[in-house]
Amino acid sequence: MVCLGNICRSPLAEGILKSKIHSDKIIVDSAGTSGHHEGEKPDVRSIDIAIKNDIDIRDQRSRKFTVEDFNVFDLIYAMDESNYDNIIKLSNSNKSKSKVKMILNESYPNQNLNVPDPYYGGDSGFKNVFNMLDEACDVIASKINEDYVG
Ligand code: 4NP
Repeated sequence: MVCLGNICRSPLAEGILKSKIHSDKIIVDSAGTSGHHEGEKPDVRSIDIAIKNDIDIRDQRSRKFTVEDFNVFDLIYAMDESNYDNIIKLSNSNKSKSKVKMILNESYPNQNLNVPDPYYGGDSGFKNVFNMLDEACDVIASKINEDYVG
């Protein structure tokens, strides 16, 4: 799960997807393309909306997305087009490129919709982001549970 800062959207996506996948064989992680918040906890507004939904993301720490992530992960979900473009720029093979998806294409196929950056807005933006990611992660989890967990 990849956004810009790895403090608002992708920590929520990580927490939500983990809550829907019940296998210790699946690694779910998140990162940011900027690295500007490296080592920080998720934004308190993301922590709060997660807790309201019985998901605890307080142990997460921001990290920067690296080319090594292409080797570790089978699926790489970008929160918006800008993150998508930045991840694609780092990829150096067609195999790596094919791993990168726009997350909302899971719930709204082929529309290339963005998860809006909630950083400069209020709490309602975080609720909106949570609901979008919850919907997308339902689709992702059902595919992963089918394809990888069985
Ligand atoms: P995120 O949100 O990419 O969802 O973690 C942001 C966090 C920080 C900033 C921008 C977006 N920032 O400009 O510091």
